[in-house]
Amino acid sequence: MVKVKMFEAPEEKSRPSIEAPITDSKAFHDVVNSRRSVRFFSNDSIPQEVIDQCLDAALKAPNSSNLQAWEIHHVVDAVKKKELVRLCLGQPAASTAKELFVFVARPDLWKRNNQWMLDEFDRRGDMPEKAYQYFRKITPMIYTTGFLGLAAPFKWLFYNIRGIRKPTPREPMGRWGMQVWGHKSTALACAHFMLAMRAHGFDTCPMEGLDSKRVKKLLGVPRQAGITMAISAGKRAQGGVFGDRFRFESKHIVIKH
Ligand SMILES: Cc1cc2nc3c(=O)[nH]c(=O)nc-3n(C[C@H](O)[C@H](O)[C@H](O)COP(=O)(O)O)c2cc1C
Repeated sequence: MVKVKMFEAPEEKSRPSIEAPITDSKAFHDVVNSRRSVRFFSNDSIPQEVIDQCLDAALKAPNSSNLQAWEIHHVVDAVKKKELVRLCLGQPAASTAKELFVFVARPDLWKRNNQWMLDEFDRRGDMPEKAYQYFRKITPMIYTTGFLGLAAPFKWLFYNIRGIRKPTPREPMGRWGMQVWGHKSTALACAHFMLAMRAHGFDTCPMEGLDSKRVKKLLGVPRQAGITMAISAGKRAQGGVFGDRFRFESKHIVIKH
């Protein structure tokens, strides 16, 4: 098996803290607190530059191995948009929206993106050997599922035997595991996007109430892609926010060890 020591930190004395960029925490919390899922939008449009900046924010989300195995489909064509509303089960959050986006996990593209990563390293010309090793040896080991996903049982056996004695990463495993892998990162892009929209004074509604099979067909993405969610966007209209925000008490959710 490949032996690459990935996680090595310098000694504590050579890790003094440095200044990170200054940010406005109040502004951030204002954005978080004012984001609500909006079900009725007004007829106001979203300027293209706002859309572009929000898409850019989405693409800056943290993502697994930086393989960016996602796509964002902005459905602007009137016919397709109407059909997408239908496939979102006619939800008002979709039918009243000015803009509709579908966030798609593309675990099936990991190999292509892995190569893009290596190409980028070549272009930069100053990447450490460890970075190359990660994308030449580690990612293929972690993300390969084999023909028809047949590598999964072998990987399962290997991880479980190795895992008896030492900490061993166990996911993603198999094709289904790769779906989960793709959705995790894509969902973070969704969160970035929705918060960015709010920061610009607009609103969103995430939607998984849709027919994913038909949505894939509409967007022309393959079966192995995963529809993480559709996100509608616009300006909130009267009655568009359903009641006060409600969350369970954090004592039930946040567990300190
Ligand atoms: C993955 C996901 C799927 C969702 N699907 C729908 C949906 O199909 N329709 C809808 O009206 N809201 C949907 N929501 C919105 C949730 O109902 C909403 O986030 C939740 O009630 C909390 O309200 P808040 O977003 O205003 O804080 C979805 C949210 C997420 C994260």
